[in-house]
Amino acid sequence: MRASLLVTLALLGFAASVSYDGYKVYKVVPKTEVENQYLKAMQLSKDFDFWSKINKVGNPVVVMVSPKAQSKFEEYLKISKIEYNVQIENVESTIQAEREYHRAKQAQKTGLKISFDQYYRHAEINAYLEQLAKDYPDVVTLENFGQSYQKRQMNLVRISSGPRNPPKPIIFIDAGIHAREWIAPAVALYIINQLVENPENSNLIQDVDWIILPSLNPDGYEYSWDEDRMWRKTVSPGTICDGCDPNRNFGFHWMEAGASSWECSETYAGKQAFSEVETRHLRDYLNKTANIKAYLTLHSYGQYLLYPWGYSDALCDNWRELDALGNQVNDAIAAVSGTTYTVGSSTHVLYAAAGASDDWAMGGAGIDIVYTIELPGGGWYGFDLPASRILPVCIETFEGFKVYADYVAKNR
Ligand code: ARG
Ligand code: ZN
Repeated sequence: MRASLLVTLALLGFAASVSYDGYKVYKVVPKTEVENQYLKAMQLSKDFDFWSKINKVGNPVVVMVSPKAQSKFEEYLKISKIEYNVQIENVESTIQAEREYHRAKQAQKTGLKISFDQYYRHAEINAYLEQLAKDYPDVVTLENFGQSYQKRQMNLVRISSGPRNPPKPIIFIDAGIHAREWIAPAVALYIINQLVENPENSNLIQDVDWIILPSLNPDGYEYSWDEDRMWRKTVSPGTICDGCDPNRNFGFHWMEAGASSWECSETYAGKQAFSEVETRHLRDYLNKTANIKAYLTLHSYGQYLLYPWGYSDALCDNWRELDALGNQVNDAIAAVSGTTYTVGSSTHVLYAAAGASDDWAMGGAGIDIVYTIELPGGGWYGFDLPASRILPVCIETFEGFKVYADYVAKNR
């Protein structure tokens, strides 16, 4: 929808949002290989939105279905005697509840700069970063990363306890490249908050510097608040469908696997590599910044620690190192409350997908400690992890970041 029309609609008081009214979320548990195959066939229908991968027999599969396709969906399952139950009766009510929660929280604003029982809008994220830079000028530097397609200001913070010679190794973290994965920016903010505001963590900034960009796709992120909670891509206009998957847009083996040239696809790679201004900013930033030793990019969901490559089933040269480090990170996270991650190369443990930021960070920018971190989803909610789960996820994940910091300090 064009901006002017949106403004007009907004003035008239219409909400131009995509509605998930009446959409149901089903949980289906395949009990035999035949049932599994049957589900795989159903996955081909665009009426059924599979939120989770079809995995081993016995693993639950979560599917969102529009009102008009529900009878068909239930019938298919009944014919093949596959058991199911309804996890969310009405997805829209869940989303509304999430918005309502944010409004209520805003109304009772506490004196705190930030808390981890709610998700924040892009402007609020920016405000927090600005406030931190003011409050901790010795440790935090706010940097202009560039502007998004819709001219939103993108900022990152550099966190450093001070200069050193030779300069310290840097850990670079980004989040939010996929709009609907809200837990990712939340975890990035938590890392910033803990490194800067919690004196107990001062050792973590002694020997490494941190550069953290919490919101890499702010236009998509805001769109997922206002219009379509399940939006993944950027919002740059197309001919039929808008947006491009920024994590298929990087210029390293671009379009070679797991990406689409059809602009309506969720994994549309763009007209050409680096067609998106946000991916160009990341390319330029990583290229011009010396001493970045680790690149960590936060996504959700699925609990994976993925290292390159994702463009093919080839493994990167130092995959043994990354596998061992990934397992240490997993152990540290698991020690908190039992959450475990699958460690492996993107292609081996998830799927092949070229043009992602991780492959580019290694193959294009020459960084050799590189991971995509797929954070946990909420039981049935997937990308829609309830706000009450933010803090527990942040706390356990932060233990993993301590392991990264320690490793980079000692080994680079
Ligand atoms: N869920 C992420 C995506 O689909 C995984 C990316 C992993 N990295 C890769 N190079 N395939 O974008
Ligand atoms: Zn993602």
